[in-house]
Amino acid sequence: MRKEITRKIDWIGVNDRTTDLFEDFWPLPEGISYNSYLIKDEENALIDGVKEGFTEDLIGEIGFDGDGLDLDYVVINHMEPDHSGSLRSVIRLAPDAEILCTEKAKSMLGGFYGITDNVRVVKTGDTVTLGSRGLEFIETPFVHWPETMMTYEKEDGVLFSGDGFGSFKALDGGIFDDEVDVQEYSDETVRYFSNIIGAYSATVRAALAKLKGHEIEVVAPAHGLVWRSEPEKIIEQYSRLSNLESDPAVTLVYGSMYGFTERVMEAVASGARSVPGIDLKVIDAARTHPSFTLAESWKREGLIIGSPTYEARIFTPVEQFVNLATKKKLKERKVGFFGSYGWSGGSVRELNAAAENLNWEAVCDPVEFNGEANSEKLEEGFALGETVAQAVAKAG
Ligand code: FEO
Repeated sequence: MRKEITRKIDWIGVNDRTTDLFEDFWPLPEGISYNSYLIKDEENALIDGVKEGFTEDLIGEIGFDGDGLDLDYVVINHMEPDHSGSLRSVIRLAPDAEILCTEKAKSMLGGFYGITDNVRVVKTGDTVTLGSRGLEFIETPFVHWPETMMTYEKEDGVLFSGDGFGSFKALDGGIFDDEVDVQEYSDETVRYFSNIIGAYSATVRAALAKLKGHEIEVVAPAHGLVWRSEPEKIIEQYSRLSNLESDPAVTLVYGSMYGFTERVMEAVASGARSVPGIDLKVIDAARTHPSFTLAESWKREGLIIGSPTYEARIFTPVEQFVNLATKKKLKERKVGFFGSYGWSGGSVRELNAAAENLNWEAVCDPVEFNGEANSEKLEEGFALGETVAQAVAKAG
């Protein structure tokens, strides 16, 4: 597919609607796009590529003339194979094209694809002129990997931002923010950010600071919508997400093997719901991929976790979520914990340890109970939910 972004600059990306798991872990129920861009001027530049299985589509759009590809430059903003998988084939058809990338990407090029020739390392502030178009490079390490950079096209203010400002979800019939209902992409942007970029929130904030001073008219990421009407919207969303800014609302994540913890969960949920104006999302960790649980928790300031003790630890599906939250640095939540045990506790102790590690603020004592909760424990559960919701309401 091809779509004009601005004169001489085309989007030539692809939609992937068949890969079930991104990075073989993150579900893609609505697909994903790999956005590649072609600038045709006195000299031609390809910016980013696609996943290997879509290479033929990309080569067709660049314009294979039977001999090769008319490319002078191949710009690599990011080396992850969802963008660089097409590179070996592209370079084979454009052997004289110069690859422009960061120092770290250069060593990855050798390691990933055995590519060592025609590689020029660029640094922040370096520029390349294509004719009427000029490119400026901005190193943005760890948005997502250490080698990542962004490329700024100066004449029309197009920022090719790699994974930054990206989203899950295939582009359904329109690639621009003004062609679709952007609200339909918002949840998948949060899920993409929390799952893929969230661990690097600090370096995302550093990248956002570096971009200040650039007139950005179009944000052209490597996944998701191209923002030409309201680029400030996606920049603002990434700013909020990377600053761990959240809504005054509560996520209640629980697991329950035989219903003991679930019974108290209902009391906790009622307690949270009793606080006016506080939204609540209840998630059964055993039936929800942690990708979604993490995204929901990234959005809300309050986080209540209920888990039975399982082999002296957190119940496995809940533990998977807690481990992921730890890996992805989901910090600064207002939390409360509860859970049942059979003969000795463990889950609440481990949840407290996770809270300390992630700078979570426990706003009340945990509620632990042996087997079936009595009426007193149910009341404590209600109070726990109410207290967390009240703490969130106060902060909001
Ligand atoms: Fe879209 Fe980090 O690759």
